[in-house]
Amino acid sequence: MSTSEFGQLEVQILKDIAAAADVSSLDAVRVAALGKSGSVSALTAGIAKQPADQKKAYGAAVNAVKTAVQSAIDARKAVLDAAAVDARLASERADVTLPVRVGPLAEGRIHPVSQVFDEVAEIFADMGFSVAEGPDIETDDLNFTRLNIPPEHPARQEHDTFYLSPTGEGPRMLLRTHTSPVQIRTMMSQKPPIRIIAPGRVYRCDSDQTHTPMFHQIEGLVIDEATHMGHLKWCLEEFCKAFFEVDDVKMRFRASHFPFTEPSMEVDIDAAAIGKPGRWLEILGSGMVHPNVIRNCGLDPEKYQGFAFGMGLDRIAMLKYGIPDLRDMFSADLRWMRHYGFSALDLPTIAAGSAG
Ligand code: PHE
Repeated sequence: MSTSEFGQLEVQILKDIAAAADVSSLDAVRVAALGKSGSVSALTAGIAKQPADQKKAYGAAVNAVKTAVQSAIDARKAVLDAAAVDARLASERADVTLPVRVGPLAEGRIHPVSQVFDEVAEIFADMGFSVAEGPDIETDDLNFTRLNIPPEHPARQEHDTFYLSPTGEGPRMLLRTHTSPVQIRTMMSQKPPIRIIAPGRVYRCDSDQTHTPMFHQIEGLVIDEATHMGHLKWCLEEFCKAFFEVDDVKMRFRASHFPFTEPSMEVDIDAAAIGKPGRWLEILGSGMVHPNVIRNCGLDPEKYQGFAFGMGLDRIAMLKYGIPDLRDMFSADLRWMRHYGFSALDLPTIAAGSAG
């Protein structure tokens, strides 16, 4: 092909480029022109066949075609790429005003016991308490003896204890009947001042509308050198106000007996706080930690004293959220969970109130 015919070839290729409707047909045009056996590449191969004095001019003409074709391809490619992005944006447009689709996060529920524990922890954290834990399977020593309930003490009978089968090794284990062994564990492992709450499962062989063989308690313990009953009362009053979200809760401190506290008190609240005036509801047991318990943990009761309380978590959850039957709490009924459960994003905080 002589250089005079190059113009025609170039015009044809540029037409094909302009006509390419998408990236793949453009690529086909490129291969047909600039590919190994493409029309422009054939011209390049022809340089060698030219007479010596024409090689230079011929080569320059071929290069001019090549450059024109390449830049036309680049320009067309930029146009086609931009069009592809526009098409994709149009087809993938999301309507951000649509409501959120119900996914697993919105379907799942937090059990009221977990929610109420978080609420309680939030309130006590604000008063400087940290969270302690102990195992469900305990020794007789920690569940009873060190809590001033020696073997043969009648209080042991009241606890309806589940014992594990003896293994022949070590002490016979039991399922803890209350969270009070966490008091012992804490005093034996931490130096006062101590300010903890300890939530957990507890077990007693008992079942009716208000009792299940497994239920939850939350223990509180404060030990230092100057704590007295005024602190105990203030602390529980502040807790009740915050927990039931009322400015004033009428409380009754009733003299009671626990082997591990002296004096001991059970606390009732006036059910007006939960919209049922005229009834007293028992919510917890409490008292000043018995000197024997402090001594049993290796601390000097002449120097250290404090208070403890134990509250039924399920019970206060039922009171606050109007749950009628304790057994339903643990029946794993999805309909019940949908009704009484909480959304995962209902995080209790003191400032925002705790109800979901
Ligand atoms: N452990 C007691 C119970 O289960 C409650 C309690 C805890 C009482 C701490 C006084 C102090 O009944």
